[in-house]
Amino acid sequence: MILVLGGAGYIGSHMLKLLRETGESHLVFDNFEEGHREALLGSPYVQGDLRNRDDLRKLFADHPDIDVVMHFAAYIAVGESVEQPGKYFTNNTTAVIGLLEEMRAAGIGKFVFSSTAAIFGEPHYVPIDEAHPKDPTSPYGDSKLMVERILKAFDVAHGFKSVCLRYFNAAGADPENRIGEDHHPETHLIPVAILAAMGKKPSLKVFGTDYDTPDGTCVRDYIHVLDLAQAHLLAVKHLRAGGDSRQYNLGNGQGFTVRQVIDAVEHATGLKVPNEEAPRRAGDPAKLIASSDRIRADWGWNPQYGDLKVIVEHAWNWHKTHPEGYA
Ligand code: UFG
Repeated sequence: MILVLGGAGYIGSHMLKLLRETGESHLVFDNFEEGHREALLGSPYVQGDLRNRDDLRKLFADHPDIDVVMHFAAYIAVGESVEQPGKYFTNNTTAVIGLLEEMRAAGIGKFVFSSTAAIFGEPHYVPIDEAHPKDPTSPYGDSKLMVERILKAFDVAHGFKSVCLRYFNAAGADPENRIGEDHHPETHLIPVAILAAMGKKPSLKVFGTDYDTPDGTCVRDYIHVLDLAQAHLLAVKHLRAGGDSRQYNLGNGQGFTVRQVIDAVEHATGLKVPNEEAPRRAGDPAKLIASSDRIRADWGWNPQYGDLKVIVEHAWNWHKTHPEGYA
């Protein structure tokens, strides 16, 4: 059985959709601090906190059939991590060490970890492949890179096998429109632009217009949340077949500027996105584009929703029909 930590969150809940569809036995563990019970759609869950070793011990004792753990239970806001590093290192790093120890005590040695493009910091070149130097520019990125290094040490010491999936910019929503993105506060570009177009947020601030990019705004590689989830299924298959530890970058290999995203949102919604120029946001690299050649070659990973237009349409469908999110 697969344990899905943070299954009630944005990416976790899309993972659950695929697990239900493929008939994979699974169990969610979530504290519902950021996640939504409504996003579980029938997947079984246990409420508890990753930072609480007793919760974890009981979870593994009660469910001896868990053989793989997926981790979607991190804090994700780069800016907040600069202001509150303790919060990020405690939950995203220290708690994971406790988790790994409890997994070991329970005899579980397979782990799929949600890592991030933020581990690379300011790119030396794009597209960013797995060999690119790792030098995070935020505590968020550090908190994730530390876990990657801890996992490496656990493999050397204990034969603990893991797959680290480094997401670039997760976006979009379930095409069937039952789950979607609902963060409080929302900081991600696509939902913020949609909410601004709907009049649910003030004018979008375009953070930085003097970058060395085609129109001066930052370039990002947007990847559909279900394509990310799909890679997790491949990771589980690999680990269950006795595979070795791996790290993969996940993106579409195509970059879009903030202005191009605004255009795509205006096109999908038929609404204007009120926006204004604003200073650069601290810690934002100019350009993040993934090379995902390795996972494509090794596992045949093939994104189904690679087109930005489709990603934005799915996000729009969700927001249009859930203007208050899950509330
Ligand atoms: N942006 C704006 N205005 C906004 C919001 C975003 O101009 O209101 C810009 C940002 O400056 C950035 C781009 O839009 O250039 C994308 O910003 P997001 O906040 O949507 O995403 P980030 O690229 O900052 O970060 C995301 C995830 C992180 C992850 C990172 C890895 O939120 O968790 O991708 O690339 F680490």
